[in-house]
Amino acid sequence: MRIVLLGAPGAGKGTQCKRIVDRYGLLHLSSGDILRQQRAEGTELGGKAQKYMDSGALVPDQIIVEMMADAIKNAPDAGFILDGFPRTINQAAELDKSLDCSGQKIDAVLNLEIDDEVVVRRMTGRRSCPQCGAVYHVENLKPKVEGICDNDGTTLVQRSDDSAEVVANRLKTYHLQTEPVVDYYKKNSSTVYDIDANKDVDGVSASVLEKLEALAKA
Ligand code: AP5
Repeated sequence: MRIVLLGAPGAGKGTQCKRIVDRYGLLHLSSGDILRQQRAEGTELGGKAQKYMDSGALVPDQIIVEMMADAIKNAPDAGFILDGFPRTINQAAELDKSLDCSGQKIDAVLNLEIDDEVVVRRMTGRRSCPQCGAVYHVENLKPKVEGICDNDGTTLVQRSDDSAEVVANRLKTYHLQTEPVVDYYKKNSSTVYDIDANKDVDGVSASVLEKLEALAKA
């Protein structure tokens, strides 16, 4: 399966991807995670991305498209799930072109729909593990010991772009540049599943997995 997971910042893309990957063995490719890793390693790409990420703007398409095309090349036969990419119509068109060259296409798009107020609550309460990348929430998805990762005992941190001001910019950027990507896929007759992401984690997972089960059987 080749899946695109769309949704506003904080809609729960990373959280749902973890569950989808556990079930179907797909490669999870998060453009945000790859960029954060590049920044942590101090690469040229990470340096170029920094100012955009810190302000809540999008990193230029050319950088992202090249980076993701490279990552997709290493996908296993089971397929991949793209998290946070494509985020502009141009990125979506470039992705289609690049898949087309190797006789592939996106099988389905999962579109997580969520209210802005819910996003703000989720992002300001998010904590993540700098070691293994596990994501928690101070109220909705608590670790067993407060502030400590269940997997490796590392102290959890808050992402620097989860401040109220940057979250507001990220939401603005999403509505302006990424929401039109949903229509791009609908107009191109792709299979698009709209999912209510305001529900709790298990409720959203149930809707997502129901769609993917149907797709896997088709
Ligand atoms: P990126 O890292 O992709 O951030 P994002 O899209 O803003 O999404 P998040 O990772 O913040 O949220 P999520 O939807 O994964 O939610 P999560 O599962 O963590 O991008 C960061 C930056 O990189 C961008 O601003 C941009 O600068 C750059 N970038 C990345 N991709 C790019 C691209 N393609 N083009 C250009 N620039 C790009 O959940 C959030 C919280 O809520 C967690 O605490 C979680 O525990 C909790 N939670 C999750 N689901 C639920 C639920 N159902 N109920 C209650 N709580 C929940």
